[in-house]
Amino acid sequence: MEKIVLPDIENIHILDVYIENGGFSAAKKAFAQTSDEVIDQVKKSGLRGRGGAAFSAGLKWSFMPKTTDKPKYLCINGDESEPGSFKDRQIFEYNPHQLIEGILITAYAIGAKVAYIYIRGEYHKWVKLMQKALDDAYAAGYVGEAMKEKFGTDFFCNIYVHKGAGAYICGEESSLMNSLEGKRGYPRVKPPFPAQNGLWGCPTTINNVETITNIPPIISKGWDWFSKIGEPKHPGTILFGVSGHVNKPGVYELPSGTLLTDIIYNYAGGVPGNKDILCVIPGGSSMPPLRGDQLEGVKMDAESLKAAGSAIGTGGIMVMDEDTDLVKVLARISHFYHHESCGQCTPCREGTGWLEKILKRILAGNGSVSDIDLLITVANQIEGNTICALGEAAAWPVRFMVTRFRDYFEARVSKEVNLKVANKVHSMRHTEFPLAEVKN
Ligand SMILES: Cc1cc2nc3c(=O)[nH]c(=O)nc-3n(C[C@H](O)[C@H](O)[C@H](O)COP(=O)(O)O)c2cc1C
Ligand code: SF4
Repeated sequence: MEKIVLPDIENIHILDVYIENGGFSAAKKAFAQTSDEVIDQVKKSGLRGRGGAAFSAGLKWSFMPKTTDKPKYLCINGDESEPGSFKDRQIFEYNPHQLIEGILITAYAIGAKVAYIYIRGEYHKWVKLMQKALDDAYAAGYVGEAMKEKFGTDFFCNIYVHKGAGAYICGEESSLMNSLEGKRGYPRVKPPFPAQNGLWGCPTTINNVETITNIPPIISKGWDWFSKIGEPKHPGTILFGVSGHVNKPGVYELPSGTLLTDIIYNYAGGVPGNKDILCVIPGGSSMPPLRGDQLEGVKMDAESLKAAGSAIGTGGIMVMDEDTDLVKVLARISHFYHHESCGQCTPCREGTGWLEKILKRILAGNGSVSDIDLLITVANQIEGNTICALGEAAAWPVRFMVTRFRDYFEARVSKEVNLKVANKVHSMRHTEFPLAEVKN
């Protein structure tokens, strides 16, 4: 199977090797066409975003205004902070020049002269590797003003590597723009959308690292070639990051629509000790978990996973065997979202705290059956009531895990409850005052 994003070519991360293998010829081809022609090909290829929502890349580009007095910007989202996601860093390390070429083509298509690669703050090694690749591309004249001569075109684009602010929320596109502007990483209320009012109030496109790395092969080999790989409604390959209880965790580039069981048992080598699988989260920690007995026949693409009751997210597959403590897992996930909530909206700020507290109470052996329903009620009150999708990211794993493993959770709370402790923990107030003293 041909790999598009991480090809099996030794040392392809070195500029000379990249060029020997046809590097930057797609950019040359694109610059000889109109920007509309380039956008049209990406639209027809069916390429969908690899950052979580699987939105059409070409359609997103077409939202950028054709005529405007303002500068336009391109942001490449490499914040990659979702637990279970670790695929974009492979591109920074093993194929950075294809990302750079993809950025040049995208910038040309949308009319941007400046692009930022926003990389997760903790990715010190990958920030350095990406910067080195960019420095080499600049020195060889493939980026910046010098590219006019290199490609024989009027177009040029400057690219900057920007180290992220160390918060998961900075991966949310509007928060990423605030962070780039030097502000606190607060998500913005939409509309207006970034294509109208983005970075510094100017038209902006934000795409994931993997999305943009797909662009050069689409231009050089043609949209029809790409559209025939994998599932027609979500074509191409996907970088699946497999973690948890598997013998060979890692990143596997496979056609969309590959069976989830194939990925787990063939590529990732199966479950240690041949244990049964209790649960799989198929797209990063924010996606709805699936029961082990729901996995048969599930294909890994946006439409198939939707039909199976989950979502493709970032393609981060987290496998949990039969001995996993799901309450502990969910309590840990909820701790993460509570900690990462930016605090702007009440349902998210308060609700994520409630979820964590209730789960920790159950984990400590002090939960009751009503806690299970309370978890679902709180999750429902977060979902759809917040500025950004971190609300859903926090609510989904809880709502779906509790609903799909209701028997498991009921068994956990069925033993006698220590009411004294339970009631104390049950109080959601961060206060020492007895309830009677609280005035309305
Ligand atoms: C809380 C939160 C965190 C996110 N983190 C990332 C991230 O690290 N990387 C990413 O590409 N998209 C992330 N996204 C999605 C982005 O907002 C945006 O949809 C994406 O970068 C668009 O790229 P694509 O269309 O190429 O998928 C996040 C969204 C939310 C709500
Ligand atoms: S949903 Fe949560 S993270 Fe998003 S803006 Fe509201 S408080 Fe902040």
